[in-house]
Amino acid sequence: MKIMKACGLVAAALFVLTSGYSLAADAPFEGRKKCSSCHKPQAQSWKHTAHAKAMESLKPNVKVEAKQKANLDPAKDYTQDKDCVGCHVDGFGQKGGYTIESPKKMLTGVGCESCHGPGRKFRGDHRKAGQAFEKSGKKSPRKALASKGQDFHFEERCSACHLNYEGSPWKDAKPPYTPFTPEVDAKYTFKFDEMVKDVKAMHEHYKLDGVFDGEPKFKFHDEFQANAKTAKKGK
Ligand code: HEC
Ligand code: HEC
Ligand code: HEC
Ligand code: HEC
Repeated sequence: MKIMKACGLVAAALFVLTSGYSLAADAPFEGRKKCSSCHKPQAQSWKHTAHAKAMESLKPNVKVEAKQKANLDPAKDYTQDKDCVGCHVDGFGQKGGYTIESPKKMLTGVGCESCHGPGRKFRGDHRKAGQAFEKSGKKSPRKALASKGQDFHFEERCSACHLNYEGSPWKDAKPPYTPFTPEVDAKYTFKFDEMVKDVKAMHEHYKLDGVFDGEPKFKFHDEFQANAKTAKKGK
Protein backbone atom coordinates (compact mmCIF):
# COMPACT_ATOMS: atom_id res chain seq x y z
CA MET A 1 0.00 0.00 0.00
CA LYS A 2 2.67 2.43 1.08
CA ILE A 3 4.81 1.41 -1.88
CA MET A 4 1.92 1.97 -4.30
CA LYS A 5 1.39 5.43 -2.91
CA ALA A 6 5.08 6.26 -3.20
CA CYS A 7 5.08 5.05 -6.81
CA GLY A 8 2.12 7.31 -7.57
CA LEU A 9 3.93 10.27 -6.08
CA VAL A 10 7.10 9.55 -8.04
CA ALA A 11 5.05 9.24 -11.25
CA ALA A 12 3.28 12.54 -10.53
CA ALA A 13 6.60 14.26 -9.78
CA LEU A 14 8.08 12.90 -13.02
CA PHE A 15 5.06 14.12 -14.95
CA VAL A 16 5.44 17.64 -13.52
CA LEU A 17 9.15 17.62 -14.32
CA THR A 18 8.80 16.38 -17.90
CA SER A 19 5.79 18.54 -18.73
CA GLY A 20 7.59 21.58 -17.29
CA TYR A 21 10.54 20.76 -19.50
CA SER A 22 8.49 20.34 -22.67
CA LEU A 23 6.75 23.64 -21.94
CA ALA A 24 10.20 25.24 -21.86
CA ALA A 25 11.13 23.49 -25.10
CA ASP A 26 8.12 25.07 -26.86
CA ALA A 27 9.29 28.63 -26.25
CA PRO A 28 11.08 30.16 -29.26
CA PHE A 29 14.83 30.87 -29.46
CA GLU A 30 15.88 34.27 -30.77
CA GLY A 31 19.63 34.52 -30.31
CA ARG A 32 21.82 36.27 -27.79
CA LYS A 33 21.66 39.87 -29.06
CA LYS A 34 19.03 41.05 -26.57
CA CYS A 35 20.47 39.15 -23.59
CA SER A 36 23.92 40.54 -24.33
CA SER A 37 22.77 44.16 -24.58
CA CYS A 38 21.38 44.07 -21.02
CA HIS A 39 23.97 41.71 -19.53
CA LYS A 40 27.19 43.10 -20.99
CA PRO A 41 29.70 41.81 -18.43
CA GLN A 42 28.46 38.21 -18.71
CA ALA A 43 28.37 38.51 -22.52
CA GLN A 44 31.95 39.85 -22.62
CA SER A 45 33.18 37.06 -20.39
CA TRP A 46 31.25 34.36 -22.28
CA LYS A 47 32.92 35.41 -25.55
CA HIS A 48 36.20 33.94 -24.32
CA THR A 49 34.74 30.51 -23.50
CA ALA A 50 34.99 27.26 -25.47
CA HIS A 51 31.18 27.37 -25.75
CA ALA A 52 31.36 30.68 -27.63
CA LYS A 53 33.95 29.24 -30.02
CA ALA A 54 32.26 25.86 -30.48
CA MET A 55 31.65 26.35 -34.22
CA GLU A 56 35.39 26.93 -34.79
CA SER A 57 36.03 23.34 -33.72
CA LEU A 58 33.97 22.04 -36.64
CA LYS A 59 36.21 23.76 -39.21
CA PRO A 60 38.84 21.78 -41.14
CA ASN A 61 42.37 21.53 -39.69
CA VAL A 62 41.25 22.77 -36.27
CA LYS A 63 41.73 20.56 -33.17
CA VAL A 64 43.47 18.00 -35.35
CA GLU A 65 44.71 15.73 -32.55
CA ALA A 66 41.38 15.64 -30.72
CA LYS A 67 39.60 14.72 -33.95
CA GLN A 68 42.10 11.98 -34.80
CA LYS A 69 41.71 10.47 -31.37
CA ALA A 70 37.91 10.38 -31.84
CA ASN A 71 38.22 8.80 -35.31
CA LEU A 72 37.09 11.95 -37.13
CA ASP A 73 38.71 13.31 -40.32
CA PRO A 74 40.65 16.46 -39.33
CA ALA A 75 40.70 17.71 -42.94
CA LYS A 76 36.92 17.56 -43.29
CA ASP A 77 34.61 20.58 -42.95
CA TYR A 78 31.94 19.60 -40.40
CA THR A 79 30.35 23.07 -40.10
CA GLN A 80 27.32 22.05 -42.18
CA ASP A 81 27.06 18.46 -40.97
CA LYS A 82 23.72 17.78 -39.28
CA ASP A 83 25.38 15.11 -37.15
CA CYS A 84 27.65 17.75 -35.62
CA VAL A 85 26.19 21.25 -35.53
CA GLY A 86 23.31 20.43 -33.14
CA CYS A 87 25.53 20.60 -30.04
CA HIS A 88 27.74 23.43 -31.27
CA VAL A 89 24.94 26.04 -31.73
CA ASP A 90 21.76 27.34 -30.03
CA GLY A 91 18.37 25.66 -30.50
CA PHE A 92 19.15 23.38 -33.46
CA GLY A 93 15.92 21.75 -34.69
CA GLN A 94 13.80 23.94 -32.38
CA LYS A 95 11.57 26.94 -32.97
CA GLY A 96 13.64 30.03 -33.80
CA GLY A 97 16.87 28.05 -33.43
CA TYR A 98 19.94 27.67 -35.65
CA THR A 99 19.51 26.17 -39.12
CA ILE A 100 22.17 24.95 -41.56
CA GLU A 101 20.30 26.56 -44.49
CA SER A 102 20.34 30.10 -43.05
CA PRO A 103 22.86 30.21 -40.24
CA LYS A 104 22.60 33.24 -37.92
CA LYS A 105 25.62 34.65 -36.14
CA MET A 106 23.66 35.27 -32.93
CA LEU A 107 22.80 31.55 -32.71
CA THR A 108 26.25 30.24 -33.67
CA GLY A 109 28.20 28.65 -30.82
CA VAL A 110 26.72 27.53 -27.49
CA GLY A 111 25.17 30.78 -26.24
CA CYS A 112 22.98 32.17 -23.47
CA GLU A 113 19.79 30.37 -24.50
CA SER A 114 21.43 26.92 -24.63
CA CYS A 115 21.82 27.12 -20.84
CA HIS A 116 19.25 29.70 -19.67
CA GLY A 117 16.46 28.55 -22.00
CA PRO A 118 14.93 30.06 -25.16
CA GLY A 119 14.44 33.73 -24.38
CA ARG A 120 11.72 35.27 -26.50
CA LYS A 121 8.96 34.69 -23.94
CA PHE A 122 10.80 35.58 -20.74
CA ARG A 123 13.22 38.37 -21.60
CA GLY A 124 10.46 41.03 -21.73
CA ASP A 125 9.71 40.17 -18.11
CA HIS A 126 13.34 40.90 -17.19
CA ARG A 127 12.93 44.43 -18.54
CA LYS A 128 9.62 45.01 -16.73
CA ALA A 129 10.93 43.56 -13.48
CA GLY A 130 14.06 45.72 -13.70
CA GLN A 131 11.96 48.86 -14.20
CA ALA A 132 9.61 48.00 -11.31
CA PHE A 133 12.61 47.39 -9.05
CA GLU A 134 14.22 50.70 -9.97
CA LYS A 135 10.99 52.61 -9.37
CA SER A 136 9.86 51.11 -6.10
CA GLY A 137 12.25 48.36 -5.04
CA LYS A 138 9.61 45.76 -5.86
CA LYS A 139 10.91 42.21 -6.38
CA SER A 140 9.46 39.83 -8.99
CA PRO A 141 9.01 36.05 -8.73
CA ARG A 142 11.35 33.67 -10.59
CA LYS A 143 8.36 31.34 -10.90
CA ALA A 144 6.80 33.48 -13.66
CA LEU A 145 10.06 33.31 -15.64
CA ALA A 146 10.26 29.52 -15.28
CA SER A 147 6.72 29.17 -16.66
CA LYS A 148 7.92 31.05 -19.75
CA GLY A 149 10.87 28.77 -20.36
CA GLN A 150 13.76 30.22 -18.31
CA ASP A 151 15.81 27.35 -16.88
CA PHE A 152 17.04 27.47 -13.28
CA HIS A 153 18.34 23.89 -13.07
CA PHE A 154 20.57 23.62 -16.18
CA GLU A 155 21.54 19.98 -15.70
CA GLU A 156 19.17 18.48 -18.32
CA ARG A 157 20.37 20.99 -20.90
CA CYS A 158 24.06 20.28 -20.29
CA SER A 159 23.38 16.54 -20.36
CA ALA A 160 21.63 16.74 -23.75
CA CYS A 161 25.01 17.74 -25.25
CA HIS A 162 27.64 16.38 -22.84
CA LEU A 163 26.07 13.04 -21.95
CA ASN A 164 24.53 12.21 -25.31
CA TYR A 165 26.38 9.06 -26.34
CA GLU A 166 25.79 5.31 -26.44
CA GLY A 167 26.01 3.71 -23.00
CA SER A 168 25.67 7.10 -21.28
CA PRO A 169 24.38 7.32 -17.70
CA TRP A 170 21.88 9.89 -19.06
CA LYS A 171 18.70 7.99 -19.93
CA ASP A 172 17.49 10.20 -22.82
CA ALA A 173 20.54 9.72 -25.06
CA LYS A 174 19.74 9.38 -28.78
CA PRO A 175 21.69 9.96 -32.04
CA PRO A 176 23.43 12.01 -33.27
CA TYR A 177 25.87 11.28 -30.44
CA THR A 178 28.91 13.25 -29.33
CA PRO A 179 32.17 11.75 -30.59
CA PHE A 180 33.92 12.91 -27.38
CA THR A 181 33.09 10.33 -24.74
CA PRO A 182 34.92 9.15 -21.59
CA GLU A 183 35.94 6.08 -23.61
CA VAL A 184 37.88 8.31 -26.05
CA ASP A 185 39.51 10.17 -23.15
CA ALA A 186 38.63 10.28 -19.45
CA LYS A 187 38.82 14.09 -19.61
CA TYR A 188 35.49 14.09 -21.46
CA THR A 189 33.69 12.70 -18.38
CA PHE A 190 30.89 15.11 -17.52
CA LYS A 191 30.49 16.05 -13.85
CA PHE A 192 27.75 18.65 -13.49
CA ASP A 193 28.45 19.92 -9.96
CA GLU A 194 32.11 20.55 -10.77
CA MET A 195 31.80 21.81 -14.31
CA VAL A 196 28.96 24.25 -13.74
CA LYS A 197 31.35 26.09 -11.39
CA ASP A 198 33.91 26.53 -14.16
CA VAL A 199 33.60 30.24 -15.00
CA LYS A 200 36.01 29.75 -17.90
CA ALA A 201 33.34 27.56 -19.55
CA MET A 202 30.14 29.41 -18.42
CA HIS A 203 31.12 33.06 -17.81
CA GLU A 204 32.22 35.11 -14.81
CA HIS A 205 29.44 35.86 -12.35
CA TYR A 206 28.49 39.44 -11.47
CA LYS A 207 26.60 40.75 -8.47
CA LEU A 208 22.86 41.09 -8.99
CA ASP A 209 20.63 43.68 -7.29
CA GLY A 210 18.25 40.84 -6.43
CA VAL A 211 15.34 41.85 -8.67
CA PHE A 212 14.14 38.24 -8.82
CA ASP A 213 13.03 36.31 -5.82
CA GLY A 214 11.85 32.88 -4.68
CA GLU A 215 11.96 29.40 -6.17
CA PRO A 216 13.06 27.95 -8.53
CA LYS A 217 16.50 29.28 -7.62
CA PHE A 218 19.64 27.58 -8.95
CA LYS A 219 21.22 25.42 -6.24
CA PHE A 220 24.55 27.30 -6.36
CA HIS A 221 22.99 30.75 -6.85
CA ASP A 222 23.81 32.06 -3.37
CA GLU A 223 27.35 30.65 -3.50
CA PHE A 224 27.97 32.22 -6.92
CA GLN A 225 26.54 35.57 -5.80
CA ALA A 226 28.63 35.56 -2.61
CA ASN A 227 31.78 35.31 -4.78
CA ALA A 228 30.51 37.39 -7.71
CA LYS A 229 32.38 40.31 -9.21
CA THR A 230 31.01 43.85 -9.20
CA ALA A 231 30.38 45.15 -12.72
CA LYS A 232 31.73 48.57 -13.58
CA LYS A 233 29.01 51.21 -13.87
CA GLY A 234 27.77 51.88 -17.38
CA LYS A 235 28.78 48.37 -18.45
C1 HEC B 1 15.86 44.68 -21.13
C2 HEC B 1 16.98 44.10 -20.42
C3 HEC B 1 17.10 42.60 -20.27
C4 HEC B 1 17.11 41.65 -21.26
C5 HEC B 1 16.86 41.85 -22.75
C6 HEC B 1 17.44 40.40 -20.62
N1 HEC B 1 17.60 40.58 -19.27
FE1 HEC B 1 18.15 39.16 -17.91
N2 HEC B 1 17.81 40.48 -16.41
C7 HEC B 1 17.52 41.82 -16.55
C8 HEC B 1 17.37 42.42 -15.24
C9 HEC B 1 17.05 43.89 -14.97
C10 HEC B 1 17.58 41.38 -14.29
C11 HEC B 1 17.62 41.51 -12.78
C12 HEC B 1 19.06 41.83 -12.41
C13 HEC B 1 19.32 41.97 -10.91
O1 HEC B 1 18.67 41.32 -10.08
O2 HEC B 1 20.25 42.74 -10.62
C14 HEC B 1 17.87 40.18 -15.06
C15 HEC B 1 18.20 38.96 -14.49
C16 HEC B 1 18.69 37.86 -15.19
C17 HEC B 1 19.19 36.64 -14.60
C18 HEC B 1 19.27 36.33 -13.12
C19 HEC B 1 18.01 35.57 -12.69
C20 HEC B 1 17.99 35.23 -11.22
O3 HEC B 1 17.91 34.03 -10.90
O4 HEC B 1 18.01 36.14 -10.38
C21 HEC B 1 19.57 35.81 -15.63
C22 HEC B 1 20.14 34.42 -15.52
C23 HEC B 1 19.31 36.52 -16.87
N3 HEC B 1 18.77 37.76 -16.57
C24 HEC B 1 19.54 36.02 -18.14
C25 HEC B 1 19.06 36.62 -19.32
C26 HEC B 1 19.06 35.98 -20.62
C27 HEC B 1 19.60 34.61 -20.91
C28 HEC B 1 18.50 36.86 -21.50
C29 HEC B 1 18.22 36.67 -22.98
C30 HEC B 1 17.33 35.58 -23.34
C31 HEC B 1 18.16 38.06 -20.75
N4 HEC B 1 18.50 37.86 -19.44
C32 HEC B 1 17.59 39.19 -21.30
C33 HEC B 1 17.41 42.50 -17.75
C34 HEC B 1 17.38 41.90 -19.01
C1 HEC C 1 24.22 22.90 -26.98
C2 HEC C 1 25.17 21.96 -26.40
C3 HEC C 1 25.82 22.28 -25.08
C4 HEC C 1 25.21 22.65 -23.90
C5 HEC C 1 23.73 22.89 -23.64
C6 HEC C 1 26.26 22.76 -22.93
N1 HEC C 1 27.48 22.48 -23.49
FE1 HEC C 1 29.26 22.50 -22.55
N2 HEC C 1 30.21 22.25 -24.34
C7 HEC C 1 29.58 22.00 -25.54
C8 HEC C 1 30.58 21.91 -26.59
C9 HEC C 1 30.30 21.64 -28.05
C10 HEC C 1 31.82 22.14 -25.97
C11 HEC C 1 33.18 22.15 -26.65
C12 HEC C 1 33.36 23.44 -27.37
C13 HEC C 1 34.59 23.37 -28.27
O1 HEC C 1 35.71 23.28 -27.76
O2 HEC C 1 34.38 23.38 -29.48
C14 HEC C 1 31.55 22.35 -24.54
C15 HEC C 1 32.53 22.61 -23.58
C16 HEC C 1 32.30 22.63 -22.21
C17 HEC C 1 33.30 22.72 -21.19
C18 HEC C 1 34.77 22.93 -21.45
C19 HEC C 1 35.50 21.66 -21.52
C20 HEC C 1 36.94 21.96 -21.63
O3 HEC C 1 37.59 21.25 -22.38
O4 HEC C 1 37.42 22.91 -21.01
C21 HEC C 1 32.66 22.64 -19.96
C22 HEC C 1 33.30 22.66 -18.58
C23 HEC C 1 31.25 22.54 -20.22
N3 HEC C 1 31.06 22.53 -21.60
C24 HEC C 1 30.27 22.45 -19.26
C25 HEC C 1 28.90 22.63 -19.53
C26 HEC C 1 27.87 22.80 -18.51
C27 HEC C 1 28.11 22.72 -17.00
C28 HEC C 1 26.71 22.99 -19.17
C29 HEC C 1 25.34 23.27 -18.60
C30 HEC C 1 25.25 24.35 -17.62
C31 HEC C 1 27.00 22.94 -20.59
N4 HEC C 1 28.33 22.72 -20.77
C32 HEC C 1 26.05 23.08 -21.60
C33 HEC C 1 28.23 21.84 -25.74
C34 HEC C 1 27.25 22.18 -24.81
C1 HEC D 1 25.46 15.26 -28.76
C2 HEC D 1 26.21 16.49 -28.87
C3 HEC D 1 27.39 16.57 -29.82
C4 HEC D 1 27.46 16.21 -31.13
C5 HEC D 1 26.36 15.57 -31.99
C6 HEC D 1 28.79 16.56 -31.58
N1 HEC D 1 29.48 17.15 -30.58
FE1 HEC D 1 31.35 17.94 -30.70
N2 HEC D 1 31.35 18.23 -28.68
C7 HEC D 1 30.28 18.05 -27.85
C8 HEC D 1 30.67 18.31 -26.48
C9 HEC D 1 29.77 18.21 -25.27
C10 HEC D 1 32.02 18.66 -26.50
C11 HEC D 1 32.91 19.01 -25.31
C12 HEC D 1 33.54 17.76 -24.75
C13 HEC D 1 34.41 18.09 -23.54
O1 HEC D 1 35.36 18.88 -23.67
O2 HEC D 1 34.15 17.52 -22.46
C14 HEC D 1 32.42 18.61 -27.91
C15 HEC D 1 33.69 18.93 -28.36
C16 HEC D 1 34.09 18.87 -29.68
C17 HEC D 1 35.43 19.17 -30.15
C18 HEC D 1 36.60 19.63 -29.29
C19 HEC D 1 37.26 18.46 -28.61
C20 HEC D 1 38.48 18.87 -27.81
O3 HEC D 1 39.07 18.00 -27.14
O4 HEC D 1 38.83 20.06 -27.81
C21 HEC D 1 35.44 18.97 -31.50
C22 HEC D 1 36.62 19.13 -32.45
C23 HEC D 1 34.11 18.52 -31.88
N3 HEC D 1 33.31 18.49 -30.74
C24 HEC D 1 33.74 18.17 -33.16
C25 HEC D 1 32.55 17.51 -33.45
C26 HEC D 1 32.26 16.91 -34.76
C27 HEC D 1 33.19 16.95 -35.95
C28 HEC D 1 31.02 16.35 -34.67
C29 HEC D 1 30.26 15.57 -35.72
C30 HEC D 1 30.95 14.43 -36.27
C31 HEC D 1 30.53 16.64 -33.31
N4 HEC D 1 31.48 17.32 -32.62
C32 HEC D 1 29.27 16.27 -32.86
C33 HEC D 1 29.01 17.68 -28.23
C34 HEC D 1 28.67 17.17 -29.47
C1 HEC E 1 27.21 26.98 -20.47
C2 HEC E 1 26.08 27.55 -19.75
C3 HEC E 1 25.86 29.05 -19.75
C4 HEC E 1 25.92 29.90 -20.83
C5 HEC E 1 26.28 29.57 -22.27
C6 HEC E 1 25.54 31.19 -20.34
N1 HEC E 1 25.28 31.14 -19.00
FE1 HEC E 1 24.65 32.67 -17.82
N2 HEC E 1 24.77 31.48 -16.18
C7 HEC E 1 25.03 30.13 -16.21
C8 HEC E 1 24.97 29.61 -14.86
C9 HEC E 1 25.21 28.17 -14.44
C10 HEC E 1 24.64 30.72 -14.02
C11 HEC E 1 24.41 30.72 -12.51
C12 HEC E 1 22.93 30.85 -12.23
C13 HEC E 1 22.60 31.36 -10.87
O1 HEC E 1 23.53 31.63 -10.08
O2 HEC E 1 21.40 31.52 -10.56
C14 HEC E 1 24.51 31.87 -14.89
C15 HEC E 1 24.17 33.13 -14.45
C16 HEC E 1 23.87 34.20 -15.27
C17 HEC E 1 23.37 35.49 -14.82
C18 HEC E 1 23.09 35.87 -13.37
C19 HEC E 1 24.23 36.73 -12.81
C20 HEC E 1 25.57 36.06 -12.84
O3 HEC E 1 26.49 36.66 -13.42
O4 HEC E 1 25.72 34.96 -12.30
C21 HEC E 1 23.18 36.26 -15.93
C22 HEC E 1 22.67 37.68 -15.98
C23 HEC E 1 23.59 35.46 -17.08
N3 HEC E 1 23.99 34.21 -16.64
C24 HEC E 1 23.54 35.88 -18.39
C25 HEC E 1 24.07 35.16 -19.47
C26 HEC E 1 24.20 35.70 -20.80
C27 HEC E 1 23.81 37.09 -21.24
C28 HEC E 1 24.75 34.71 -21.58
C29 HEC E 1 25.12 34.75 -23.06
C30 HEC E 1 26.01 35.82 -23.49
C31 HEC E 1 24.95 33.55 -20.71
N4 HEC E 1 24.53 33.87 -19.46
C32 HEC E 1 25.47 32.33 -21.14
C33 HEC E 1 25.32 29.36 -17.32
C34 HEC E 1 25.47 29.84 -18.61
